[in-house]
Amino acid sequence: MLPRHIAVIMDGNGRWARQRGLPRSEGHKAGTEAARAVVTRCRELGVRHLTLYTLSRENLSRPAEELSYLFDLLVRFLKKETRLLLEQDIRLKILGEVEGLPFGVRQVVRSVVEKTKDCGSMTLNLALNYGGRDEILRACRTLLAKGLDPAVLTEEAFAAELYTSGQPDPDLIIRTSGELRLSNYLLFQAAYAEFYFTDLYWPDFSPAELDKALEDYAHRQRRFGKTGDQLTAGE
Ligand code: IPE
Ligand code: IPE
Ligand code: MG
Repeated sequence: MLPRHIAVIMDGNGRWARQRGLPRSEGHKAGTEAARAVVTRCRELGVRHLTLYTLSRENLSRPAEELSYLFDLLVRFLKKETRLLLEQDIRLKILGEVEGLPFGVRQVVRSVVEKTKDCGSMTLNLALNYGGRDEILRACRTLLAKGLDPAVLTEEAFAAELYTSGQPDPDLIIRTSGELRLSNYLLFQAAYAEFYFTDLYWPDFSPAELDKALEDYAHRQRRFGKTGDQLTAGE
């Protein structure tokens, strides 16, 4: 089965560049190409939701020079790919604190989100200035401010306050670069996600590698706490 929602931790750009004696910026640039190819492949396959970890809150403490390159790259990517998103009927959404981003980035992001808001074939979420714990805290603050009765708060009502409101939880989380951790990604939503790890650095993660991950996923048995017998009995 095809996952409804794939979430990716695009890691290893810096190491990819170092391996080649290049500056980290070249790794980020190559990473952008890989991202474009994966978006297109997901759209072709009919994946309805794709989330790309583009910048964590913690990444904001990186050197100013690297950050300004990353923001520049993002702005150029979004401007250049707006047409592709519209042609492929892909809606852009941002998960994260947009207000904390530089003005130029905010402007472009808002404009592309607005332009693509009626696209219905796929949702592309960019996790930008995103932190899973922060997302959970924000939801708590909103609910407390609403004066909600704790007794009536359900998991669904809580999920509706997250950045991913209205979207299914990720079925598959892919992380490149050999690191085996979540790095504050989709902490609430990842409850029953399947994980796929590869040692490849992100710029080397091609559509064919995505196909491999999907093939692997297709052989998983998701139990959601039940026994294998219950599942075969269709309970
Ligand atoms: C992922 O690659 C991209 C971002 C976090 C922005 P890294 O920049 O983390 O690359 P490594 O992990 O240092 O190789
Ligand atoms: C996670 O990668 C964030 C993104 C891919 C955007 P990091 O490189 O920031 O994660 P850690 O620091 O190795 O856990
Ligand atoms: Mg990294």
